[in-house]
Amino acid sequence: MTCRITLVLLKYIWGAKMLKVRRINQFYGGSHILRNIDFELPEAKVTVLLGRNGVGKTTLLKTMMGLLPAKSGSIEFQGQNLTKAPPYERARAGLAYVPQGRDIFPRLTVAENLQMGLSSQSGSASIPEKIYEMFPVLRQMLSRRGGDLSGGQQQQLAIGRALAMNPKLLILDEPTEGIQPSIIKDIEKAIRVLAASGQMAILLVEQYYDFAQSLADHYLVMERGEIIAKGLGADMEKNDVKALLAV
Ligand SMILES: Nc1ncnc2c1ncn2[C@@H]1O[C@H](COP(=O)(O)OP(=O)(O)OP(=O)(O)O)[C@@H](O)[C@H]1O
Ligand SMILES: [Mg+2]
Repeated sequence: MTCRITLVLLKYIWGAKMLKVRRINQFYGGSHILRNIDFELPEAKVTVLLGRNGVGKTTLLKTMMGLLPAKSGSIEFQGQNLTKAPPYERARAGLAYVPQGRDIFPRLTVAENLQMGLSSQSGSASIPEKIYEMFPVLRQMLSRRGGDLSGGQQQQLAIGRALAMNPKLLILDEPTEGIQPSIIKDIEKAIRVLAASGQMAILLVEQYYDFAQSLADHYLVMERGEIIAKGLGADMEKNDVKALLAV
């Protein structure tokens, strides 16, 4: 009994782990890209994944989403083993992915792009109002074609589409890449609001250190296909994480 109370307390203190990635290995042909990647994500927190160009961040996200089948290792999400699940099943389980380079449908309108995000849900769900509150520009441009938006607006649309799925874990791959500072601020604010809602966990891949640090509850650093450091966002400066990213 005491043991059980202690366990519950420990879980409360450390935060429940919603995602468990265990010893993932990945290859492109003969190149060993991910090496025994092992980490956990807590519920309702922002975890930033940092690392220089080409260390394998996007490959890891694609493997988590099932776009690349893991060669070995396992992925468990809220107690469900997703290691062999196809991408649509992972989406249905609550994982939403905003790929690097904001992969929207350029020939569909903003409204149609957002509706694509709803297609993973059953019934006649509608676009959640919070998406327009976060990114008012999307409401103003509902009938405009995705391809006619600016880069920053396309990034907002890509995030909006992922949010339309009502995910439990939102995965963002370098959302600030090539985007003007004013929109970076809007995206930062949106991530903060989402994190504060307590309704979803966020995994944010970033190379822009200041942006990452300002949002991180936890951090992970990758180097040549391995996680080489992890800790609390509040300790990033003390642990000199920036030095690990210097070229
Ligand atoms: N489709 C592919 N086929 C072969 N090699 C690939 C492929 N995609 C990526 N790579 C290589 O795998 C390694 C990891 O790439 P990945 O895109 O995962 O890195 P990244 O950390 O996301 O980099 P960036 O910060 O530039 O986005 C790199 O050496 C890259 O050149
Ligand atoms: Mg990448």
